[in-house]
Amino acid sequence: MTSPIILTQALSRDFKETRAVDALDLSIQPGELFGLVGPDGAGKTTTLRILAGLLDITEGSGSVAGHDLSEQPEAVKPKIGYMAQRFSMYGELSVHENLLFFADLFDVPRAEMAERTSRLLAFAGLTAFTGRRADHLSGGMQKKLALACTLIHQPEILLLDEPTTGVDPVSRREFWHILSELHAGGTTILVSTPYMDEADRCSMVGLMYAGRLIECAPPARIRAKIEGEMIEILPHDWQAAQDLLRTLPGVFEVQTYGESLHVLVDKAKKRLPKIKKAFRKNKLTYNGLRPAPLRMEEAFISLIRDLEE
Ligand SMILES: Nc1ncnc2c1ncn2[C@@H]1O[C@H](COP(=O)(O)OP(=O)(O)O)[C@@H](O)[C@H]1O
Ligand SMILES: [Mg+2]
Repeated sequence: MTSPIILTQALSRDFKETRAVDALDLSIQPGELFGLVGPDGAGKTTTLRILAGLLDITEGSGSVAGHDLSEQPEAVKPKIGYMAQRFSMYGELSVHENLLFFADLFDVPRAEMAERTSRLLAFAGLTAFTGRRADHLSGGMQKKLALACTLIHQPEILLLDEPTTGVDPVSRREFWHILSELHAGGTTILVSTPYMDEADRCSMVGLMYAGRLIECAPPARIRAKIEGEMIEILPHDWQAAQDLLRTLPGVFEVQTYGESLHVLVDKAKKRLPKIKKAFRKNKLTYNGLRPAPLRMEEAFISLIRDLEE
């Protein structure tokens, strides 16, 4: 194994009484598309800001691209592209002018400016909008422009803080497509997200909760950690169905998901007929009842629940 390009050891950060990041051990290999997944308040932004050299460490240590964050935070900056959760675009500047602004900021050689901006505009699908004011772009396009600006100095490491939050599903998919291309090109990417489904697009996933990394593995392994299989039911009497399911043998957990119930059982094939029978006996009806794949969201909720027990 090569040495990690991002490494933290028992890294903690306090804000007064709050421990935002709690003894974090993070080890990211070069070329990884690493998803830091967790709900609001988990400590994702704090972690990324520390790694970007923008926030001091309270306890523990960290290094990025071989530079210790406490000793050489300035040496880290040219190596990384950091996109803040609430990044600031220059709204009154055009797409092209924004790119030029960031090129200037990062001392991109003049001779390379034209080639780089046109390549990034094409890459981000913004070529047709080159002259448009940034604040007249859609939310999804603004995020792509922010990413293009983050890439202008060709950093080897990308730190992206919730780049797809609040973006429509189509733009989200396009954005992840761009990340996959960067990943294929060898860039190391650390991207945070509250969307569990995005974890499946990463090569490695770190589940973060209450400042801690509770799991770190490839997405398929996280899924496999969850014991059991999933059955989805669309009951008419949702509350009664839930109460009944919780009493049945082989049922680990019942989660509500929109109109349906997601029932985590030991063996779906074995429990399906028994659940049907119990519903009949209790005169409960349903629209659908079928085995369903376990989603990342359920895997995550289940892992947190284990933690709290
Ligand atoms: N500047 C700050 N001052 C005080 N508390 C903060 C500050 N930044 C973050 N926190 C707290 O630290 C915890 C983690 O926040 P954050 O890193 O923003 O999580 P996430 O990005 O996962 O939502 C939260 O409880 C948050 O309220
Ligand atoms: Mg955040």
